[in-house]
Amino acid sequence: MKLLLILSALFAASAAETALLEIMKLLLILSALFAASAAETAYYEGYVVYQIRPVTDGQVELISGFGENASFDFWNAPKIIGLPTTVMVAPDAQESFVQVLTAAQIPYTVLIDNVERVVKEERSRQQTMTRLEKGRISFTEYHRYEAIQDYLAELASSYPDIVGLEEIGASYQGSAISMVRIGAGSSSNPTIFIEGGIHAREWISPAFVLYLIQELVENENNRNMIENVNWLIVPVLNPDGYEYTHTNERLWRKTRSIGSICDGVDANRNFGYYWMEAGASSLECAETYAGPTAFSEPETSHLRDIINENLDEIKLFISFHSYGNYIMYPWGYTSQLPYDVEELNSLAVDVEAAIASVAGTRYTIGSPPQVLYAAAGGSFDWVKGEAGVDMSYTLELPGGGSYGFDLPASRILDVCVETFEGVKVFYNYVEQQSRKSS
Ligand SMILES: *[C@@H]1O[C@H](CO)[C@@H](O)[C@H](O)[C@H]1NC(C)=O
Ligand SMILES: [Zn+2]
Repeated sequence: MKLLLILSALFAASAAETALLEIMKLLLILSALFAASAAETAYYEGYVVYQIRPVTDGQVELISGFGENASFDFWNAPKIIGLPTTVMVAPDAQESFVQVLTAAQIPYTVLIDNVERVVKEERSRQQTMTRLEKGRISFTEYHRYEAIQDYLAELASSYPDIVGLEEIGASYQGSAISMVRIGAGSSSNPTIFIEGGIHAREWISPAFVLYLIQELVENENNRNMIENVNWLIVPVLNPDGYEYTHTNERLWRKTRSIGSICDGVDANRNFGYYWMEAGASSLECAETYAGPTAFSEPETSHLRDIINENLDEIKLFISFHSYGNYIMYPWGYTSQLPYDVEELNSLAVDVEAAIASVAGTRYTIGSPPQVLYAAAGGSFDWVKGEAGVDMSYTLELPGGGSYGFDLPASRILDVCVETFEGVKVFYNYVEQQSRKSS
């Protein structure tokens, strides 16, 4: 199934939601989305958002056939029949798409008749972002890449003993991809590697990773977390895409490498472990385009190299995405499970419980084919399978419970606070394992 491809766009919406609620939440998404939009482009003119409710396997199959079609952007595509699928469709495809739905008797409703109109309305209502002092960060809004870089530089200069700022390489467009190295103990301490912002539009990912950095560095109560474990953290692996979602297309997912017809590669299908084996597209215009070759993107090859350089110490890896509340472990490329699935699963269960203990937010645990769809070429598969870091995870952070891709800015802090409790459990595991082995 081609819908397999849309790993991070997947979201199991509640069947009980009313159409009105759906519209409200989409308005909320869009209001959060276009906050800092500099370019007054009308990119979404004539784009329509449909909610489709396939009721048979055949209908699910038919809808999934559009997964690789560049005119379709699936915002969520739950696995379960009867739950709604939300898809944004480009103007050129609407007539024939509606004909297909009608002919196949697939129920659908129009959630937004013109995405651009909503975007414009919301943009005109936008509050201007609070101007922060250079080098400061907040969790009440989403920040531009430059502000994030300034914050990291400020931390490194304020806490030179515990924070190092490195550039792992340049993005396709030449931006520095930053990594912070945090530690207050031995350089041979076990290390946790954190990757954020691989998918451009998933803004809560870099936001949470920045919160994690702040907690580790600036909160004395977490001192043990950096005395016993070292942290390598890349908050925004795909800065070109991230900036592009601020300036041009809010819903951009891929890198910004120039293609022959369509630009960008799905960086989380580009890692070289069973690359293109499942749930990835060879079509340049698809949202899940895996790239011309594995590691074709500078962003993914830099991540590979920096992980390889620190392999002796790295004991656990987490890639942060949104949305849909999933804690996933390998494999993404196959429905077979790794030999140590019990270990991976039992830690995930503890992490889930810790997150839930804060405000009741629940996550679904499993490998991608178990909980969503198969998808090869993800960073966590490569980290486990090729680099050999056994404890390797992908987290899909919340979309706000009932919102869409991006959590409203007012919810950032809540998600950060509860997710941090989960990361503490990951930390405790690594710390205890190292004590056992020493
Ligand atoms: C994408 O889907 C639309 C609507 O059905 C169709 O008109 C178009 O030909 C499709 N494009 C490709 C490349 O298959
Ligand atoms: Zn993602």
